[in-house]
Amino acid sequence: MRIDIISIFPEFFGVLDISLLGKARERGLIELGVHDLRDFAHDRHRTVDDTPYGGGAGMVMKPEPWGEAFDEVLGGPGAGAESSVVVFPSPAGERFTQATARELALEPHLVFGCGRYEGIDQRVIEHTKTRPGVRVREISLGDYVLNGGEVAVMAMIEAIGRLVPGVVGNPASLTEESHEDGLLEYPSYTKPASWRELQVPPVLLSGNHGAIAAWRHDQQVERTRRVRPDLLPD
Ligand code: ADE
Repeated sequence: MRIDIISIFPEFFGVLDISLLGKARERGLIELGVHDLRDFAHDRHRTVDDTPYGGGAGMVMKPEPWGEAFDEVLGGPGAGAESSVVVFPSPAGERFTQATARELALEPHLVFGCGRYEGIDQRVIEHTKTRPGVRVREISLGDYVLNGGEVAVMAMIEAIGRLVPGVVGNPASLTEESHEDGLLEYPSYTKPASWRELQVPPVLLSGNHGAIAAWRHDQQVERTRRVRPDLLPD
């Protein structure tokens, strides 16, 4: 998979050099390009924003630098890469879930356009939709407002990247975690069996795999009912 990120803060993404994603890049499973939007602004101050038409607070990101950045990342005006998904992180977008991460992990090319200020001129989104081979998604991390898309993109890339085949060593660990089966994860324990007078639940020491599976499922249902009842069917 190839991932391109367009941002006025490319240095935000330095952390993608380390950890699981860094290893995936070393192994050639994920290829990453980070692009500074200001490189596509040609005035002396490399301006990327301006006041909103119609008035109102804040600044809006200008369309021209975005258009040029996408021309470069998607392979020239009108050309379009073979198949790309352009993601605009926005609190006004569809909600990002594990299902979204699973869908995006199957794509050959993702482009993230990180907005700042009051957002990007809407024509950038409309124009990007007209590029051949390009699908556009506006995606929100949750019902709160961040200062810009960068942190949201970091979270999305972490969730997507670990689902790219080969990135996580033991694929079973991906299916046994929160949200994969619509329930929250069961609690986990390791050695020692007794710690500060707290005991590991005896069933986990029993060696009875059926009983362990049943206990874990009960824990998932109980935890989900308590913390996230909205995830359970009515
Ligand atoms: N940019 C600002 N707030 C955001 C959010 N909640 N999700 C995604 N991108 C954002």
